[in-house]
Amino acid sequence: MDTLKRVEIKELFSEKAKERVNTQVCVKGWVRTKRGNKAVAFIALNDGSTINNIQIVADVDKFGEDLLKRITTGASLKAVGTLVESMGKGQSVEIQATEIEIYGEADVNTYPLQKKGHTMEFLRDIAHLRPRTNTFGAVLRIRHNMAYAIHKYFNDNGFFYWHSPIITASDCEGAGEMFQVTTLNLEDLPKNEEGKVDYSKDFFGESTFMTVSGQLEGELGATSIGKIYTFGPTFRAENSNTPRHLAEFWHVEPEMAFYDINDNMDLVEDFIKYLVRYALDNCKDDIEFLCKMYDNTLIDRLNFVISHEFKRLTYTEAIDILEKSNHKFEVPVSWGIDLQSEHERYLVEQHFKCPVILTDYPKEIKSFYMKQNDDGKTVRGMDVLFPQIGEIIGGSERESDYDKLLTRMKELNMNLEHYQWYLDTRRFGTVPHSGFGLGFERLLLFITGMTNIRDVIPFPRYPKNAKF
Ligand code: 4AD
Ligand code: MG
Repeated sequence: MDTLKRVEIKELFSEKAKERVNTQVCVKGWVRTKRGNKAVAFIALNDGSTINNIQIVADVDKFGEDLLKRITTGASLKAVGTLVESMGKGQSVEIQATEIEIYGEADVNTYPLQKKGHTMEFLRDIAHLRPRTNTFGAVLRIRHNMAYAIHKYFNDNGFFYWHSPIITASDCEGAGEMFQVTTLNLEDLPKNEEGKVDYSKDFFGESTFMTVSGQLEGELGATSIGKIYTFGPTFRAENSNTPRHLAEFWHVEPEMAFYDINDNMDLVEDFIKYLVRYALDNCKDDIEFLCKMYDNTLIDRLNFVISHEFKRLTYTEAIDILEKSNHKFEVPVSWGIDLQSEHERYLVEQHFKCPVILTDYPKEIKSFYMKQNDDGKTVRGMDVLFPQIGEIIGGSERESDYDKLLTRMKELNMNLEHYQWYLDTRRFGTVPHSGFGLGFERLLLFITGMTNIRDVIPFPRYPKNAKF
């Protein structure tokens, strides 16, 4: 007889499953729980394809106590049996087992996920096992779906996936928060005549770093093939131990020729709404689980975003609102300050009660490449601010005028030699263009309702942590 082909548990909870009722099925997975009595054991099995467990009903007489004793939380097994409509509450079908094969046991005394209800902090210390929990299974399936939706959105809208380098000699954001990449022997560094490190001896013949953003190279894509996006890891060596910062995060950066700041805002709003809608349509079980377990306002928040226009206003208007609010902020408000998360969240959560796009920031607090406004004080940057999170996206129309850009870079004492290739985009056939950067994990915070960014990526990197 042919061996029965394994079916994924997700399929047993789909419409198609009806055809399988009263037939033999084979499932494979990990045991979530086992309960029962002297006559029968009920095993909840999960294979990662869905948040839902299939119940395996095993008669003690048939399988014997010795085998059933080895089936504990975390053990892996194969079960074959008849799929039947379930009498029990909460599940539509279950399997009446005729054959069980244990692949691997999980010792009740040492398996860390033996019990339920672990704290997020505890789970971070066992990051190699936490994907086996319901919560991380849900989060990581949503993460996959969002990555797919990002590619789908851009592909369907005529954008090309562009690969900016990860190792770079230039600092895009000019903030100097970069990890250095070197093959020099740190115990015995080559020195030049001035006694400084001689980077001509380094692998690339100059000092290099892990990129903080793929934007600058992305602009080369936009100014040649029109509309591109990058989607890859970027790195920041800022020592910020906050629930919103990672040292390694995934960055989505579209860049579009012939888009001004208004086109950029229209795109960003359409893009985010598409992603939220995609999550609601395609990750229903996982989102409902997270909503039930952690935050019962999650689904309402997601629906709210897709059904309301984002409020658009300038930085100057926002400062005015904050100053008049009489709210006590830790960092006092005045024109020129870099807005803190407390200010952003006040605007979004208390004042407007909807997502906000702020534009036209003081040039001193924004990057060199942003288009300068005629007032000589502000630049055409835009930040998208979200409830619970604050800044989820940063972008701008880019300065396309060669002389203005060069003057600004000189003012900031930038090493022009490193940026000749970038300046060439403005020297030859320059065009108005715009783009933005979405922190993928910040998006996931919003979609999953998780409150710490370390819990929406399988292997978080943050100060003093690169263990797993
Ligand atoms: O605002 P940022 O620094 O902008 C840029 O890097 C531009 N080059 C983007 C562009 O215009 N192409 O970063 C963009 C977004 C932020 O809004 C935030 O969502 C995310 O990247 N981000 C981080 N996410 C997690 N951890 C960090 N340390 C992050 N730093 C920025
Ligand atoms: Mg920013």
